Amino acid sequence: MQKLGIAITGSGSALPETSLDNQTLSTLVETSDEWITTRTGICQRRLAMPSESLSNLGAKASMQAISSAGITPADIDLIILATSSPDDLFGSACQIQAQLGATKAVAFDLTAACSGFVFGLVTAAQYIRTGVYQNVLLIGADILSRWVDWQDRRTCVLFGDGAGAVVLQANESDRLLGFTLKSDGTQNHYLNLAYQPSSQELLPGVNIGQGTYQPITMNGKEVYRFAVQRVPEVIDKALFQANLTVDQIDWLLLHQANQRILDAVAQRLNIPQHKVISNLANYGNTSAASIPIALDEAVRQGTIQPHDTIAAAGFGAGLTWGAAIFQWGR
Ligand code: ACO
Repeated sequence: MQKLGIAITGSGSALPETSLDNQTLSTLVETSDEWITTRTGICQRRLAMPSESLSNLGAKASMQAISSAGITPADIDLIILATSSPDDLFGSACQIQAQLGATKAVAFDLTAACSGFVFGLVTAAQYIRTGVYQNVLLIGADILSRWVDWQDRRTCVLFGDGAGAVVLQANESDRLLGFTLKSDGTQNHYLNLAYQPSSQELLPGVNIGQGTYQPITMNGKEVYRFAVQRVPEVIDKALFQANLTVDQIDWLLLHQANQRILDAVAQRLNIPQHKVISNLANYGNTSAASIPIALDEAVRQGTIQPHDTIAAAGFGAGLTWGAAIFQWGR
């Protein structure tokens, strides 16, 4: 019988070695450890050196995920790389495919900012549910230190670099119990890493716009308001779909943007603090990588156990947001 259920069977993560703490950061911009920790919960973040590429980080995390799932790169049918900061605008998933030697796999990038991992999870699940693919590698990776304005204290204190990965496999039991994805482009202007063209006349009357991407801009207050309102809604909807109540969740695994957002969402949903997974103190906001890194750490520490029920939610630029309820393991 064809297996059309989904199981998340392996995880991995990779972080650059270089760490930047709040104290040192306050020598670059006018800020303080006290301001950053009380407003965000972040104490330090990792930074990728120029020699470190997104595909290297992604491949490292992937190797761990593949071996913990007990398969080999040759078994992978599909690779989805959720990122907003690829090494190559044409996509970096194929570079990861090559580094892994996953010769059978088709590979592509998916862009949904800090919601990328949850959007990728649901995308991967569709291929398995339709019986098209059996083994999918999903990577969330970002190096936003390359796109932050290091003179803008409102944004540079928030972000860090890293990669996380999971393997999804066709399974008899379906461990993806429910999901909800949302987008609202009318609020796009609250969080951007936008291309700014400058007009160049190629031929008389023919102008092209060759420019560069501008550093991240953000309206922090609006993004905060959006996250705290919208994230509980999608978790509620996904739980309804899963036919579960809030008290049946073992772990709340939110995109690691800000401790205050994590606390406020947990409070609105009536989820006690001991069920909230948080590692942002060490890594800051690693965008698409934050959920799989936190998941991998919790699995390796034995915090998350097989068949624990996890409510994961991503939110960020687009604006995009979404939740997925799943059980860990086969
Ligand atoms: N250090 C010291 N002071 C600062 C800093 C800093 N790093 N940043 C801002 N300030 C100052 C401001 O200039 C302001 O001063 P003023 O009153 O004299 O003008 C004061 O602190 C308060 O600034 P606010 O922006 O009002 O601070 P707020 O309490 O809203 O906290 C924060 C800012 C932490 C960014 C908050 O709004 C937040 O967490 N928003 C959500 C952001 C987020 O999670 N974004 C990522 C989304 S995911 C993605 O897709 C990338």
